[in-house]
Amino acid sequence: MEMKSLALLVFTLLSVNLVCSAVPLASRSHLNVGYIYPGDRLLYRQYLQKLALPNAIQYQDFIYQGNRSTRISAVTATEIGYTQYASAWIIRGGVGYNNVTVRVQTYRGYGYYYVIDVWGR
Ligand SMILES: *[C@@H]1O[C@H](CO)[C@@H](O)[C@H](O)[C@H]1NC(C)=O
Ligand SMILES: *[C@@H]1O[C@H](CO)[C@@H](O)[C@H](O)[C@H]1NC(C)=O
Repeated sequence: MEMKSLALLVFTLLSVNLVCSAVPLASRSHLNVGYIYPGDRLLYRQYLQKLALPNAIQYQDFIYQGNRSTRISAVTATEIGYTQYASAWIIRGGVGYNNVTVRVQTYRGYGYYYVIDVWGR
């Protein structure tokens, strides 16, 4: 990635451990929204990992913020290795915007290992 775009990149990770949570736990292990068009680039790739904690639901918000002209075309979050029944979904921004916030969350008592890709131009 060019230094120029690196300098404009604001990247934040919030990390939270919850023992109790009302967030529903449907099976949505992989996130895959949008389409990668010719000319799109991988704008950002981030690996996120959490180790299992007994009886705990843990989550993390991944935030990608592009510059004013950035247009996100696709966002994927893919569990690496065997599934741990984790979930990933977009809580803000996404396709067509210049920013995206992806929440990744463990199944109770499990961990996760995700790779998140943000594509666009
Ligand atoms: C803005 O971000 C895009 C990627 O989304 C990059 O290609 C472009 O060079 C950036 N513009 C500036 C002025 O840094
Ligand atoms: C991020 O995207 C949201 C749309 O979900 C938009 O309302 C907001 O203005 C964007 N934030 C910035 C800093 O551009």
